[in-house]
Amino acid sequence: MRYDSTPRILSSEITDETDYLNRREFLRLAGIAAAGAVASSACQADVSGATTSDGLSRGTDLGKLEKSVLSIDDKPNSFEDITTYNNFYEFGTDKSDPHRNAKDFVTEPWTLTVAGECSKPGTYDFDELMRGSTIEERVYRLRCVEAWSMIVPWAGISMATLLKRFEPNSRANFVKYTTLYDPDQMPTQRRRILDWPYVEGLTIAEAMNPLTIMVVGLYGKVLPNQNGAPMRLMVPWKYGFKSIKSIVRIEFTEKQPLNTWQISAPHEYGFYANVNPEVDHPRWSQARERRIGTGLFAEKIPTLMFNGYAEHVAHLYDGLDLAKNF
Ligand code: MTE
Repeated sequence: MRYDSTPRILSSEITDETDYLNRREFLRLAGIAAAGAVASSACQADVSGATTSDGLSRGTDLGKLEKSVLSIDDKPNSFEDITTYNNFYEFGTDKSDPHRNAKDFVTEPWTLTVAGECSKPGTYDFDELMRGSTIEERVYRLRCVEAWSMIVPWAGISMATLLKRFEPNSRANFVKYTTLYDPDQMPTQRRRILDWPYVEGLTIAEAMNPLTIMVVGLYGKVLPNQNGAPMRLMVPWKYGFKSIKSIVRIEFTEKQPLNTWQISAPHEYGFYANVNPEVDHPRWSQARERRIGTGLFAEKIPTLMFNGYAEHVAHLYDGLDLAKNF
């Protein structure tokens, strides 16, 4: 991963929230049209345009969300900051590439394939999975390994609740996540800059931790493409690269899976990738971070152990040498 470069975002490149919603509204209506005569409850949910116990209506407001007690009180970054300064290498390697290049990314319909050590493997429709799920607002810190950070009001569902539906068995020690592979839509997948598709992994205890969520929204709206639509992982005590986007596959494994950045540069990026101000990246310090949105000349702020989530996760690493297991 390249060291964070100064943001070069022209105001003309910034997606206006209204434009974004209009496109989403269009998708929503297109979805209803495509559903045709199938008067299913999913279709009804679409028409209602809100989060109901029936399911997630895609392409619109998520309705009133409960703010999780696990949220932090810090003021979130702006919608513009969060949706125009991104890492999503499938759509380009500059921070301003994803929001421009992911505009037409098709996320409907979307399926999730579940495999490996569980009783309920299979291919699940995204809308079906979301039906009946409780979506909460989780305001979390996001700390990138490149030493910048943001505060993001994610909307997501508990990963533990989702994973338990597939009934992992006693050999499920790890969870491996995979991003969509579709070079026609994700132009950078034609370049061999990474080993595609992007993959990531967690221990089963990390995946089941109450902080870990499957994100489906942002600022109370359906997740923008550049942030990993329709669903992406969020593990807030780890460097941002662990939070894999646009997930199509979950596999329960006995052995620790490799992750994309570890495959790319094993001496720089490990499996755990816990935010740790005391363990520097070989090419830069991890002691401080630049908070996006505070201006180019703002002083960097200290990075917190486990990104400030130590009370929730430190016990997961008792006895583990965090300098070796970086
Ligand atoms: N997931 C995929 N599939 N491809 C990527 O390039 N980048 C990661 C992570 N997930 C990435 C990804 C990195 S390095 C970071 S910091 C976060 O996404 C950024 O998330 P954001 O753009 O929503 O802030």
